[in-house]
This record gives sequence, structure tokens and C-alpha cells, in this order.
Amino acid sequence: MAKVTVVGAGNVGATCANVLAHKDIVKEVVLLDIKGDMAKGKALDTWQQAPIDYYSTTVTGTDDYADTAGSDIVVITAGIPRRPGMSRDDLISTNAKIVKTVTENIVKHSANPIIIVVSNPLDVMTLAAFEASGLDKSRVFGMAGILDTARYRAFLATALDVSPKEIQAVLMGGHGDTMVPLPRYTTVAGIPVTELIDDATLDAIVERTKKGGGELVQLMGTSAWYAPGAAAAQMVEAIVKDENRIFPCCALLEGEYGLNDIFLGVPVKLGKNGINEMIELKLNEAEMELLNNSANHVSSVIEVFKGMDI
Ligand code: NAI
Ligand code: 2OP
Repeated sequence: MAKVTVVGAGNVGATCANVLAHKDIVKEVVLLDIKGDMAKGKALDTWQQAPIDYYSTTVTGTDDYADTAGSDIVVITAGIPRRPGMSRDDLISTNAKIVKTVTENIVKHSANPIIIVVSNPLDVMTLAAFEASGLDKSRVFGMAGILDTARYRAFLATALDVSPKEIQAVLMGGHGDTMVPLPRYTTVAGIPVTELIDDATLDAIVERTKKGGGELVQLMGTSAWYAPGAAAAQMVEAIVKDENRIFPCCALLEGEYGLNDIFLGVPVKLGKNGINEMIELKLNEAEMELLNNSANHVSSVIEVFKGMDI
């Protein structure tokens, strides 16, 4: 059974560790944070939940990378979240250094882990982890698409008064306001969503989805954690169970969708080796224009990252 390390025991990391423990699908979860006692405390609290909620996954906290040795999967949530008025891109100067250092420490202690990046700005932090890790591109990718698609699906479920379980959707692009929800690939129990909802309501839901992270920052003063933590745990589950589930993940494009050398959200098959396959949808002209616009935005943040001295 697998060993998973979650780096960053803040809101998202602690939630991810807790959700993972509840799934009871891995042998152990190590929660690491520079605030070691906080990681130890949250891990102990989650372990003490085990007799109540009935799981066997052990959860321990640490500030020592030696305890992460032999991890099969590592989820990186370390870094600062945004506050009201900030965009995800404003976090780059702090988080790029953190993600690079964390990744270097991880690969010192684990030979060939799969790394799932959560820290923002997501697409560029995934690039930072990929470069620092020296791992194959199939083993380093980012979590954002599952979260953004979940927000889109939740808004649709409310509007249509149906269970969110019935809604399947694809959303692509960068994790920011330029993300690309795709109504043409959205169904409700197999029925095209456009048959069930009027254009104006659907357009409003698409726009709300794009700003879904900001809506929560406004409400809470910091960014979301329940859905993000669960989304990262769902990716771990797909890998551990070798499920070949199709999720939108932030992955390195090398010619797919006509884009090169950029990490961007695209549908992939996730299984025991990480990204088993990237799926190339036949986007129409308007969808491709939106994806290119999103890629251009991510590229501009990559330029900032490349210009940094870290
Ligand atoms: P948080 O502030 O609650 O937790 C971050 C944790 O990282 C803190 O406990 C801090 O001590 C730790 N940390 C900082 N530097 C570290 C280092 N060098 N090594 C180990 N730990 C370190 O923040 P939260 O809400 O958990 O968010 C974490 C990150 O995830 C943020 O960058 C946020 O923007 C991002 N995020 C990304 C999402 C996505 O969809 N990709 C969704 C939600 C959050
Ligand atoms: C979110 O979308 C801030 O990226 C984080 O909630």
C-alpha cells in the first residue's frame, strides 16, 4: 500500500490528508510543514478520528523530510494563499521559492515519486516543481481542473435542481479567470446541458465559475480548502487504484492543442504511473481561441517566473 506525503499542513494540505485518511486506500500519510508542531497536531487529530470514522491509514506530522522517505505520491500545498484583492499571480514571488525548495527536498528522499502541485499560481508552480524535480512529465502535474469543474458542476446542479452527481463536464486552460469551461462537453445524465438550460443562465454560470475562487476569497478572507483538498485526494485515489479516470489536470503540453512548453489544464487519464494519456479534444474555433487566450495569460506568468532569480 502506498505512502503519501502532503507538504503544507494549512487549510488545503490538512483537508487533503484528512479526506485521504477517510478513503482508507493508502498505508500512511505524512503531513509536513515548516510549522512542525502544527503538522503534528493536525495529523494526530486526524489519527484520533480513525476509531470514530473507521479507517486504518496512519497519519503523522513532521517538519523533517527524512520522514517522507519512500513516498509514492507527494501533494504540494505549501505556500501562501491569496487574500481579498489579490490574484493568484500575485503569489508568485513567495511561492516559487517555496515550491522549488520543497520539490528539491522531496526528491532527495524519494526516488521516483508522483508529484501533484496545488500551490498557486498553479500552472507556473507546476512548471517550477517539474523543473526542480528532474522527473518525467507524466509524474508531475497540477490540481485545478477538478476543482474548477466541480464549481461549474455545483452551480449547474443548483440551477437545474438536480444532483451534482448527474453532471459531467470538461473545463480546460489555466487556473485563473481565463479558464475555459466547455458547455459543448457538458451533460446532465447524458443529456446535453444546452437542452436543459437557456443560454443566458449558462453564460452566467460559466462566468461565475471563472471567478469561483475569488468569490470564496471575498466570503472568507482567504482561499477555499474543502473542495481543493478533496480534489487533490481524488487524484491520489485515481493513481493508487490505477483507475485511469479522466480528469482535467495541469500537464506539460508538447505540441498537443498546438501548444508547446507550457503547463495547462487538459483532460488526461490518471493511473498508477501518473498521466497515462493526454486526451486531445476536437475543439471548435471559438473554444480554441479561448484556450489560446488562457495559454497566453499563463505564458505571461511563466515569463515573470523565468525572470526571477531563485
Ligand atoms: P495555508 O496558509 O492555510 O497553508 C499553507 C501552509 O504552507 C502553511 O501551513 C505554511 O506554514 C506552509 N508552508 C509555507 N512554506 C512552507 C515550506 N517551505 N515548507 C513546508 N510548508 C510550508 O494556505 P492554503 O489555503 O492551504 O493554500 C495553500 C496553497 O494552495 C496556496 O498557494 C493557495 O493559493 C493554493 N490553492 C490552490 C488551489 C488550486 O486549485 N490549485 C485551491 C486552493 C488553494
Ligand atoms: C481557488 O481557486 C485560490 O486557487 C484557489 O480556490
